[in-house]
Amino acid sequence: MQNLEVKSKKIAKMLHQDFIESQLVVKEQEARMIESRKMATLGEMASSIAHEINNPLAIIAGNNVLIKRSLNEPSNEIDIAKLLKNVEKIEKTVNRVDKIIKGLRLFSRDGTLDQMSSASIDSLIEETLSLCQERFRTSGVLLSFETNYHGDILCRGTQISQVLINLLNNAYDAVVELDEKWVHLKIKQVQNELIISVIDSGFGVPIEIQNKILQPFFTTKELGRGTGLGLSISKGIIESHGGGLTIQTLKGHTCFVVKLPINQKAA
Ligand SMILES: Nc1ncnc2c1ncn2[C@@H]1O[C@H](COP(=O)(O)OP(=O)(O)OP(=O)(O)O)[C@@H](O)[C@H]1O
Ligand SMILES: [Mg+2]
Repeated sequence: MQNLEVKSKKIAKMLHQDFIESQLVVKEQEARMIESRKMATLGEMASSIAHEINNPLAIIAGNNVLIKRSLNEPSNEIDIAKLLKNVEKIEKTVNRVDKIIKGLRLFSRDGTLDQMSSASIDSLIEETLSLCQERFRTSGVLLSFETNYHGDILCRGTQISQVLINLLNNAYDAVVELDEKWVHLKIKQVQNELIISVIDSGFGVPIEIQNKILQPFFTTKELGRGTGLGLSISKGIIESHGGGLTIQTLKGHTCFVVKLPINQKAA
């Protein structure tokens, strides 16, 4: 009898061990899927990111030509104030390229093994926005941003950037063909929570597909344009941060809301 008890205890222990190991495997696979979807997004965005960098480079080159031309004038005709403006423009544009590169670094690094760390929400947003601003501008989609929170947040920055890029890309896709096209990113601190809303000028997600869009592989985009993984991965990322991702309709417009706890220790 006692023998039987010992045996069943052993089996229970083995089953428990198996369960823990399979949970670890699932977690690892989830992390790999997040990473591979992110790299695919990066590939899809590659040409628009090149454009984000190309435009500032053209501005720098243009101002450089103007400076050279001025310096070739007889010295008494050199307009110092104008020269200074050109130099300042170059400086500002170099800073813009720097942000884009930081955004790329933030987005592309492998975040699967990252521990949560304290990150400035201002830098995180600025660097993420710098990856898509030019694309929005070129297509005539007005991208605006407001925040009432300038502190830090305990998070895996790479993953939060991935969520934002997906929500912004979805919003872009939803409005780019409309007459009225805008996307508004709003960040608000409410007590110990950060509420990140991405609102677009679209007319909301049809009620009949609202409960499907967070499921993996659900997409309404044409073949080759969407995998239908963006929102389900985003939801997983946000939940692993102890937050939530929901969809709402705000004054008839589509609004995705991310809620993230702000860890006071990190703030
Ligand atoms: N802002 C939005 N407005 C309207 N519909 C949306 C919006 N965001 C998402 N959707 C709907 O939800 C679906 C799923 O979005 P999700 O981000 O998961 O995948 P996807 O954008 O289709 O593909 P992927 O993100 O993998 O490239 C979209 O195909 C679209 O039908
Ligand atoms: Mg998407």
